[in-house]
Amino acid sequence: MQVQVKHGNVAARPVAAWVVGIVEDGGALRGAALAVDRATRGAITSVRRAGDFTGRFLETLVLYPRGLRTRRVILVGLGPRAELDLHRVRLAAAQAAHKARALGVATLATVIHGAGRGGLEPERAAQATVEGTVLGQYRFGAYRTRAPEAPLRRLEVIEHDASRARQVREAVARGAGWAEAACLARDLVNTPGQDLDPERLAAHAREIARGARLKVEVFGVPQMERLGMGAVLAVGRGSVHPPRFIVLDHRPAGHAREETVVVIGKGVTFDTGGISLKPKEGMQRMKYDMGGAAAVLGMFSALPSVAPPFRVVGLIPTVENMPGGRALKPGDIVRTLDGTTVEVTNTDAEGRLLLADALAYARRLSPTVVVDLATLTGAVTIALGHLAAGLFTEDEALARELSGAAAASGERLWPLPLWNEYAAEMRSDTGDLLNSAGREGGATLAAVFLKHFARGMRWAHLDIASTAWSPADRPHERRGGTGFGVRLLLEWLSLRAASRAAARAS
Ligand code: BES
Ligand code: MN
Ligand code: ZN
Repeated sequence: MQVQVKHGNVAARPVAAWVVGIVEDGGALRGAALAVDRATRGAITSVRRAGDFTGRFLETLVLYPRGLRTRRVILVGLGPRAELDLHRVRLAAAQAAHKARALGVATLATVIHGAGRGGLEPERAAQATVEGTVLGQYRFGAYRTRAPEAPLRRLEVIEHDASRARQVREAVARGAGWAEAACLARDLVNTPGQDLDPERLAAHAREIARGARLKVEVFGVPQMERLGMGAVLAVGRGSVHPPRFIVLDHRPAGHAREETVVVIGKGVTFDTGGISLKPKEGMQRMKYDMGGAAAVLGMFSALPSVAPPFRVVGLIPTVENMPGGRALKPGDIVRTLDGTTVEVTNTDAEGRLLLADALAYARRLSPTVVVDLATLTGAVTIALGHLAAGLFTEDEALARELSGAAAASGERLWPLPLWNEYAAEMRSDTGDLLNSAGREGGATLAAVFLKHFARGMRWAHLDIASTAWSPADRPHERRGGTGFGVRLLLEWLSLRAASRAAARAS
């Protein structure tokens, strides 16, 4: 989809439909809504008076006024002003885009939702409007023989205030770029395991690195053996597709030694559970077990738009978790990169083994901060449902940063405990740690296991098993892969970049 910024009045745009957001409170129309109302000789006023459209959140109504430069006006409800935030803007924009697509509309001109009577900051509202439109248009069509309905070809974002032109243009580009990065992550998650094994995930990483001008390295089995990544190797042994360890590196000149952010993504291209085989019900969904890796790759694909003045390293341990004659067995002991011995009590608790090696590798980079994203436990979904990912950290400043990014991106995080007392359950009689203990408190047990490998580092773990896959269609996401974490990470890195710039200026 082509996304452009146009100046002036939405009612002057010759496109297939105009989109106008309406706040629900019956107050006088202002700004773009007023302009469209005038152009349509009071059509918006009429439908509001009749009570046919109140601006209830996500309500839509299509008007067909005559004698204008468009055939249709799509009204979308923004809900009450007091509840309006950037995420509601995103959802409303997505809803309007759905309506447009269902009508076969190819070109759309939209006002920036929430920036007028909504009172939101225009640049942020512009970014959210574009994100919602692009995210709402996503379809995974790679395996369909019949093409889905035609997508929107062009979106025009209308800004009437010329003095804000540059900022709005940048915000619109960021919104389109970030949403496309999330769609790239969705494609990776939705791709079946047959077509996305560790080597092919690495091929995607190389391509993304080329596009974003990053350094990339992919370790094969011999190199992982030399390094001592016993955990990744053990989990990968059951598959005919050998494991890989992917390292992406954004290293701006002159800042190399100041600050290093490490982002880790779990990359299990398919999780059968291994010898501790999963039940057959719903196993097809386990192609999504590289959702953390997809988030990291999506983030890197859009990193040039953030251009952080610090080093950002992405680490992706990637395997296919399979049973087989060579596969890891319960009772086996693996030695991780930092020398810890782990007794494997359940081969289905493979994600934490991969992250153990990745965290140990991260330590060698002397990072300022480390964040991992992983579809780690079924238990996090029991705790939170599908509307938030679990946030595990003992670093309050980091928790605040990530929660701020979560609020801005609409990719919600919710804190869960990481207390040491839980670690007692994870002690092994034979080695140092067990990889799996009881079912109760499963998301925290996994996080406490990781904490051992993150010792001494500023670190947060995001368990995205609850959010990387959506079981239901929502305005901005279809059933399937969500790309969760891409926009969250980009937002977080932008906030860090902005605070570095502010610190240097003062
Ligand atoms: N990839 C799964 C997590 C998962 C499980 C996501 C079910 C969605 C639904 C992970 O590798 C896993 O299998 N975790 C186990 C851990 C257990 C064996 C301690 C789980 O959550 O059941
Ligand atoms: Mn598993
Ligand atoms: Zn898994």
